[in-house]
Amino acid sequence: MSSSYLNLIDLNDYPVAFWDRLIELGHNIKNDPEKYSQSCKGKIMATLFYEPSTRTQMSFQTAMIRLGGSIIGFDNPSTSSVAKGENLKDTTKIVSSYADILVMRHPVAGAAKAAALTADCPIINAGDGGHLHPTQTLTDLLTLREEKGSLENLTIGMCGDLKNGRTVHSLVKAMSMYKNNKFVFISTDALKLPSYIKDVLSAKGAEYKEVERLEDAIGELDVLYMTRIQRERFASEEEYQKQKDVYVLDRHKMLKAKKDLVVLHPLPRVDEIAVDVDDDPRAKYFIQAKYGVYVRMALILTVLEGKEQPAPLLFGKEYRISCPNSKCITNTETYLPKSFVGIGDNLICEFCDERTLML
Ligand code: NCD
Repeated sequence: MSSSYLNLIDLNDYPVAFWDRLIELGHNIKNDPEKYSQSCKGKIMATLFYEPSTRTQMSFQTAMIRLGGSIIGFDNPSTSSVAKGENLKDTTKIVSSYADILVMRHPVAGAAKAAALTADCPIINAGDGGHLHPTQTLTDLLTLREEKGSLENLTIGMCGDLKNGRTVHSLVKAMSMYKNNKFVFISTDALKLPSYIKDVLSAKGAEYKEVERLEDAIGELDVLYMTRIQRERFASEEEYQKQKDVYVLDRHKMLKAKKDLVVLHPLPRVDEIAVDVDDDPRAKYFIQAKYGVYVRMALILTVLEGKEQPAPLLFGKEYRISCPNSKCITNTETYLPKSFVGIGDNLICEFCDERTLML
């Protein structure tokens, strides 16, 4: 199924040349924001945030306001008709008929894609459960372009909750598309990167290894991407307590790192980076959040211009099985098509990327 709108559900739905154009535009906006200050005059952006957010929501709103446009939306679904039991389809259908672009964050994987199937304006995925977060990745890419000067030939360490961290999933998929990047995944056994992301790396022939100790890996890294343990994605508080505080980047560990290491974090930080690292010139996580505004301005402009070729939403087949992932949108919004793509012996859910064996 295709959409006539330039949605952004997963960056990998588009060619790398498209990302590069967005990053280049983000760079130009950063250097001359005034030039773009009326570019979206008369346009409305809706932000529907079904999950908490500071940076993503406010940077989108700031981006639209700095482009001369206006904003509507909610950040607490309990004050909207969602509290009365309205389904995702109806809410997004209506709001998309009010707005020119709709930015959505939702706790369930595949929600943005589900909304895009019936919306009357482009949908931007601002995080769908533990699945993907493409606009954080655009932020990360612009940050690396500005702070490292290249998106190639980097050894990238990812540390923390690699299982549930959607920013990690999107960034690994994206960086595997640039030449010669190597990955070091630093996590406990329980919080390892999902296999579907490792499959993407294997398919690209990208080199990666998995280690348990940050101090063993830090010395070889050009980029260290720290992440928060995603408390809200754990089945129980007890499970979370077992994982929290395992990784803390502090001044002592920074002594072992390269002089030109770049430390990133999508934020919010809990305690995985000691506050005393903030003054280290290699700590780039605050400026990273600022780059997010420029790249989101670039994205809003590009989507509203609509000159790029939209990506298809669904191209697989409908099956009479349910997705085995209980956190997939097809299991909560049951009117959605059970659409899968067959690869080898596996069926891949087109909403959440979960694999199931073909019977
Ligand atoms: C991240 C998110 O929401 O996934 N934050 C963000 O968008 N800046 C990371 C997180 O919540 O840990």
